[in-house]
Amino acid sequence: MKMPVALVWLLAFTNLLIRGESNNALCKENFKLDPRPHSVSILEFGAAGDGKTLNTLAFQNAIFYLKSFADKGGAQLYVPPGKWLTGSFNLTSHLTLFLEKGATILASPDPSHWEIVSPLPSYGRGVELPGKRYRSLINGDNLLDVVITGDNGTFDGQGAAWWEWLETGTLNYSRPHIIEFVSSKHILISNVTFLNAPSINIHPVYCSQVHIRKVLIETSIDSPYVLGVVPDSSNNVCIEDSTINVGHDAVSLKSGWDQYGINYGRPTTAIHIRNLSLKSPTGAGISFGSEMSGGISDVTVELLSIHSSHVGVAFRTTRGRGGYIQNITISDVVLAGVDTAIVADGHTGSHPDDKYDRDALPIVSNIVMRNFTGEDIGLAGNFSGIGESPFTSICLTDIHLQSSESWVCSNVSGYSDDVSPEPCSELMSSPSSSCFDGGSIYSGDTATQLYSW
Ligand SMILES: *[C@@H]1O[C@H](CO)[C@@H](O)[C@H](O)[C@H]1NC(C)=O
Ligand SMILES: *[C@@H]1O[C@H](CO)[C@@H](O)[C@H](O)[C@H]1NC(C)=O
Ligand SMILES: *[C@@H]1O[C@H](CO)[C@@H](O)[C@H](O)[C@H]1NC(C)=O
Ligand SMILES: *[C@@H]1O[C@H](CO)[C@@H](O)[C@H](O)[C@H]1NC(C)=O
Ligand SMILES: *[C@@H]1O[C@H](CO)[C@@H](O)[C@H](O)[C@H]1NC(C)=O
Ligand SMILES: *[C@@H]1O[C@H](CO)[C@@H](O)[C@H](O)[C@H]1NC(C)=O
Ligand SMILES: *[C@@H]1O[C@H](CO)[C@@H](O)[C@H](O)[C@H]1NC(C)=O
Ligand SMILES: *[C@@H]1O[C@H](CO)[C@@H](O)[C@H](O)[C@H]1NC(C)=O
Ligand SMILES: *[C@@H]1O[C@H](CO)[C@@H](O)[C@H](O)[C@H]1NC(C)=O
Repeated sequence: MKMPVALVWLLAFTNLLIRGESNNALCKENFKLDPRPHSVSILEFGAAGDGKTLNTLAFQNAIFYLKSFADKGGAQLYVPPGKWLTGSFNLTSHLTLFLEKGATILASPDPSHWEIVSPLPSYGRGVELPGKRYRSLINGDNLLDVVITGDNGTFDGQGAAWWEWLETGTLNYSRPHIIEFVSSKHILISNVTFLNAPSINIHPVYCSQVHIRKVLIETSIDSPYVLGVVPDSSNNVCIEDSTINVGHDAVSLKSGWDQYGINYGRPTTAIHIRNLSLKSPTGAGISFGSEMSGGISDVTVELLSIHSSHVGVAFRTTRGRGGYIQNITISDVVLAGVDTAIVADGHTGSHPDDKYDRDALPIVSNIVMRNFTGEDIGLAGNFSGIGESPFTSICLTDIHLQSSESWVCSNVSGYSDDVSPEPCSELMSSPSSSCFDGGSIYSGDTATQLYSW
């Protein structure tokens, strides 16, 4: 018997949810935002907000001190207005990092201020270069209950130097991120701005219960491969009410790379993404993969505005990845000025090394895209599945794109209804045979529509 996804989610959330209260369980869940009983200012640790003094030690000492409040309700580290230059530092559990209005945490552009660390096990190597990688500016490893918030304070990654080192091939290790949480739970990031990230802005990996809301993420359009938010081998993640304008993918769901990701085996699942404004001149507004070897499933995306972008929605994978991208619903999307509205490409992405298994074929199936409108679109869609593992049950309904070119399809099958321009014949099979058992997604209440397959 199939268990509806809604029920699975409800079971997963029984301790957090009022049963039946909401179909948007993930984003409506209330994370603890009680004020911490203790608060200290970074000034108390000798920091100087002049934009020149290096404050790494002040941040490290402050966090070390605040560790002792973990079992006393936690503590807040308050960052007042000013420019606080720092190298990378770790957070601790039961912590709120609060950035006041006018407070900017400025990342040092000197690589010697960034520790060098091992690659993630699900990647086996640095993503950009073989071997190790730089530790991120702000790190959480094995933490519980961390809040990063403020009155729209800013993290400025000062990424320009890193972008140039990548482009000139003078980088020694893979670039750092602004924020990375590894194996952590109950994370909230809200009301803060991210500028000029060296590479990824926010990277939760092996995490659960992560809530990202009301963030603004911006990098200059010529920042190479800079990504916004990347949920990676993580579950129960909500991203909402945010604006993300970056060089490459604004939101990208991942789960490890070829044999390393297959062996690590941790999927990205139970993800809810809603109400985002996205721009990606050289990448996609939202992407799945190409690193997806641990699997990506049960993702609900709604209310996106994607503009001035290369691709709107992208599914990317290649032979050797294994894994799956399955049971994804994307609805209520407005596109404007996008080269290709929808891409599903089974021949994209490189390999970590030559030890990958060519027979590890990825599966892409049960993807629903509903209620898209688009203006000023180049190509409506390009579906290019893998011969030995075609993409199946790709379902398009109520999609209206003003595009100069229509759809391109190979090695794909699915269903479409009320789609213009007219889709390719591969996407015109009957719903009962290709889409959902009984087509139940189109009937019943909203919860059924969103979460049952
Ligand atoms: C930061 O955390 C990592 C991983 O837990 C640890 O190896 C490293 O020593 C920590 N760095 C500092 C400065 O505390
Ligand atoms: C937050 O700050 C950024 C600049 O750092 C600004 O562009 C943005 O409008 C601010 N957002 C709000 C809600 O005040
Ligand atoms: C890379 O390493 C070389 C040799 O140690 C050094 O001269 C160079 O500055 C380093 N590059 C970066 C971007 O750190
Ligand atoms: C963020 O700011 C809004 C007002 O702009 C406020 O209502 C909210 O409580 C703040 N905190 C979080 C965590 O969203
Ligand atoms: C979408 O997010 C914006 C903030 O970016 C907020 O002002 C607006 O109310 C949200 N809309 C919905 C429908 O949640
Ligand atoms: C389609 O999406 C638009 C834009 O997000 C939204 O305003 C509208 O209500 C949606 N229509 C339906 C039928 O859900
Ligand atoms: C569609 O995608 C395939 C695979 O990436 C590519 O080879 C082909 O050129 C694309 N077609 C168009 C018209 O963009
Ligand atoms: C499907 O994939 C196979 C193998 O990659 C390829 O030879 C074939 O041309 C593809 N089918 C179409 C219609 O492009
Ligand atoms: C996707 O949904 C189908 C049908 O409900 C289910 O059989 C399958 O296990 C789901 N896939 C994943 C990866 O959860």
